[in-house]
Amino acid sequence: MSTFPTTRLRRLRRTGALRDLVRETRLHLDDFVMPLFACPGEGVVRPLEGLSDIAQRSVDELVGEARRLSGLGVRSLLLFGIPEEKDEDASGAYDDDGIVQQALRALHAELPELVLLTDVCLCEYTSHGHCGVIRDGEVSNDETLDLLARTAVSHAAAGADAVCPSDMMDGRVAAVRSALDDAEFENTPIAAYSAKYASAFYGPFREAAESAPSFGDRRGYQMDPANVREALREVELDVREGADVVMVKPALPCLDVIRAVRERFDLPVAAYNVSGEYAMVKAAAARGWLDERQAALESLAAIKRSGADLVVSYWTGALAEWL
Ligand code: PBG
Repeated sequence: MSTFPTTRLRRLRRTGALRDLVRETRLHLDDFVMPLFACPGEGVVRPLEGLSDIAQRSVDELVGEARRLSGLGVRSLLLFGIPEEKDEDASGAYDDDGIVQQALRALHAELPELVLLTDVCLCEYTSHGHCGVIRDGEVSNDETLDLLARTAVSHAAAGADAVCPSDMMDGRVAAVRSALDDAEFENTPIAAYSAKYASAFYGPFREAAESAPSFGDRRGYQMDPANVREALREVELDVREGADVVMVKPALPCLDVIRAVRERFDLPVAAYNVSGEYAMVKAAAARGWLDERQAALESLAAIKRSGADLVVSYWTGALAEWL
């Protein structure tokens, strides 16, 4: 390879058009998923303090927002629900008339062109805020599987295009797959949150989803952020259990994990640009410390560059306006 002065890498950086021509990573709306929060009521739009420009919306308002996003070119949504009431067994999660199920029916009927993904987890629906059933002060893995499977089936029945188990119980992908197949939803894909870390960056989401655990934390089921080989084991198990897409979460603190998963596996890899990653930029931008748009575009490009095929991001709506 020749060196300076024959080689000058600045030649291709001289103009915007040249930089565009040789750019390695491009952002395209087809790859982005917008999370939305459904809550009970009518005409409700409740802005979230920690997630600025994101709101909880009643189903009627959610449909309006989804229509606006679709008009901007957004193709996919990830739905979360805040139920009317929470209980020990998370019954709102698998209730056929639950909040996500209602949202799915409305969106599916009015905006059939949108891809509707659902988060399958119990934490928004349990009175204690953990992602599973509690027995003797601990989250019981095997008892939780049955409830997750019921939740996934009820989402599919209500019109979900894919279900996304995010609870980190062992064996949940197999449980969800077999329940979907038994209910004749063999064509509903599973996009598994395979390597989901016990991350501090979910803070603003827990306000949005009203799902902070009332005791303890999630380190007994979500992954230790110090580990990457363990992430590969998690992904491998989910692939063997039938996952169609595997996800790494959070994204920015885990770019090495996304890269490692990309190199080892051939399935589509998703990354979740979580609430704290978004909130940090929003907070700094509100103080004039950085430019939101530049910081967001750089963050999203970094996630794509690390190997993610699809990205869940609260910036998806803004991205649609920027692109
Ligand atoms: C549900 C779930 C969480 C997130 C997505 N699904 C919260 C958690 O595990 O505590 C976090 C998303 C975000 O921070 O944006 N278990």
